[in-house]
Order: sequence, then structure tokens, then C-alpha cells
Amino acid sequence: MTGEMPQAPQVDLRSDTVTHPTTAMREAMASAPVGDDVFGDDPTVIALERRAAALLGKEAALFVPTGTMGNLVSLMAHVPRGGEVIAPAESHVFNDEAANYAVVVGAGLRPIAETEDGTPPVQSVVGAIQDSTDPHCPITSLVVVENCHAHTMSRPISPTYMRELRSSLIDGLPIHVDGARLFNAAVALGMPVSDLVADADSATFCLSKGLATPAGSVVVGSKAFIWRARRARKLVGGGMRQAGILAAAGLVALADGPDGTVARLANDHAMARRLAEGLAQQDGIVSPGHLAQPSGALLDPQRVVTNFVLFAVAGGLTRRAAYLQALRDHGVGMVSYPHGQIRAVTHLGIGEAEIDRALEASAKALAETAYH
Ligand SMILES: Cc1ncc(COP(=O)(O)O)c(C=O)c1O
Repeated sequence: MTGEMPQAPQVDLRSDTVTHPTTAMREAMASAPVGDDVFGDDPTVIALERRAAALLGKEAALFVPTGTMGNLVSLMAHVPRGGEVIAPAESHVFNDEAANYAVVVGAGLRPIAETEDGTPPVQSVVGAIQDSTDPHCPITSLVVVENCHAHTMSRPISPTYMRELRSSLIDGLPIHVDGARLFNAAVALGMPVSDLVADADSATFCLSKGLATPAGSVVVGSKAFIWRARRARKLVGGGMRQAGILAAAGLVALADGPDGTVARLANDHAMARRLAEGLAQQDGIVSPGHLAQPSGALLDPQRVVTNFVLFAVAGGLTRRAAYLQALRDHGVGMVSYPHGQIRAVTHLGIGEAEIDRALEASAKALAETAYH
């Protein structure tokens, strides 16, 4: 074989999925007791599922390989064929999971536009519920909330919204939270993670983003729901055998002591704010112009409350591509994001030195692409 090995940028702000497992995680993985989890006898998976269910205040949990599979098996467990899912228009479930709601679940999806805080107005959600007595209509079967809501700078969604949503929905219509970054929301809002899903029937959260494990997500809900989700996981090929090796890293992530990776998310949020404050000073960096963030205005660092910075460069898409390439040439990775935006995400590998290096690289990239 010829060709160079692809290399990650030295300062990698493309996503919080680029984190490597901590030393404590690697040690726990090496010595984890394991069994065949499809037979239900992997003690480390069972311990992780119990820990996750307790933390999120639900009866039961299920370990799955990815966040996408967590959302998929949740939809399969809640939604019948021909059912309809109500979800935010910018949500991952609608835009970024290869239309699995249609292909695998056999459901329709009714997208509802969010406001700038990431929440579809409750009245719009209620208005989208179909008439279950009319045979023309799909059966509204699930409402999805994304927390944090990625496309609004990864804003945390408050329990107040969840309570209002729950009390406005007809009885028996379940709510699922795509909580890929639910722990970021809990840390940003300074409240237990269980408060954020108290009014939801089910939730998925990812261990392999800011929490830094190599793989894995967890679904939580009632015992009956988790049984259906477990069956759905098998159907889509997600039943893993000695999965305790992976679950062991998740147990470290969720531990209370110094090895746990939840409390340290506050540092990622501080680093994202530092990046936004620096970028906002640079001529040519503008607000993303999306979801009520005025186009062409200065970037508002106050909007950064978790680990995402979304911004744009003046000059449009050609300059964006050139700016991203120039950043990369200076050792810094960021990615393009929908609606002409650029995304930078902080995580375990990013401290003040990396942010300062990213700001220097951005200043150079702006100067080098000023002709665009
Ligand atoms: C909001 C949201 N939900 C779900 C997922 C899916 O997670 P995974 O990449 O583990 O499938 C992601 C991944 O980036 C996400 O950002």
C-alpha cells in the first residue's frame, strides 16, 4: 500500500468524539470481569446499566454501541409501523441518522422548527399531533427532544420546558430525549441529570463524546420499554458479547471520584467560552446567522454555555472552505456545519494552550483568506 497515513490535527476541535480513553479507563478495561452480554451475564455491562438507570432516575437501562443505535432502538420500542414521530427540525434524529426512522422503523417524521434556545414551541408540538380518529392520519407516537440541542450552540434544555411539554401532551404520548450530551446540559445548568429527564419516558446518552470513553451509549426507561429496546437492539445487530470491556470505561466515566469525567465537563465549557471570546475579537468572524443569531453581527460569546462554538466567516462559503483549510495547515481542525456555519468543539484534550493556539491559527487563516 502507498500513501500517507491520515493524521488528526494537532489541536482537534472537530468534535468531542475524538477523545481518547483516560489511563483509568484503559486500566479498568484491561481488568474488567466479562461474560456474554447477549445471554445477560456480563457483570460489567449489568453494573453500568444499573449505574446509568440510577443516575437518570429510571427503572432500567440498556448499553448500546452508539448514540444513533440508542435513538433507533428507542424509536423502535415506542413507535409502530406507520406511526409518526414529532422531532425538532434541526435534530440529529431527523437529519443525521440516515432516515432510520423511515427505513427501519417504518415511521414518518414531522419536523417542528425550534426557537433559538433549541426548543420547538410547545403549542407547535401540540398542534402537530394527528387526529387519531381520522383513518387518513398517521398515528402520532413519540415526541423527541434533543438535549443539549446541537444546532443552537449545544444549548441545554431546562426541566421547565420538559414539564410544560409533558403537561401539554395527551396522556400516553411518550417523550424521548436524545441526550447525546445530556451530562453537558446537567453540568451547565448545575443540576442532577435525572432532573432533565424526569418528564421523559426514555433517554439516550453518549459515553463516547465529552465523557471520553472509546465507544458506547446508554438508553434508559421503564423495564417494559427497555425489554422492547433490547429486542430491537438484537434486531439491528447491536447485541455484543464481552461488551464489559467497553462498559468498564463507561463505569469510570460515571464514577464520582477523580477518575470520573462528568464534573470535568465544566472545563470544556470554560474553554469553549474562551475560544468564543477570542474569536469574537477577530475581524472577519461573525455570528452564524442561524436560529435568531443575527447574520453578519459579531459573535456573541454569551451564547456559549456548553462545549460548542458555532460561528461563520464573513465572505461566504468559498472563504469558509479556504479558512478551514488554512486552519488545518496551521494544525487546527474545525468542521463546516449546516447553514454556512463552522463548528469548534472542546473536550478532554483541549486546555488553555490549545485554545490560544487555535486563536493564533484563526488570526493567520483570516489574514490568508482575506481576498476571498
Ligand atoms: C445530538 C446527537 N445525537 C445523536 C448522536 C449520535 O451519536 P453516535 O455518533 O454515537 O451515533 C450525535 C452524534 O454526534 C449527536 O450529536
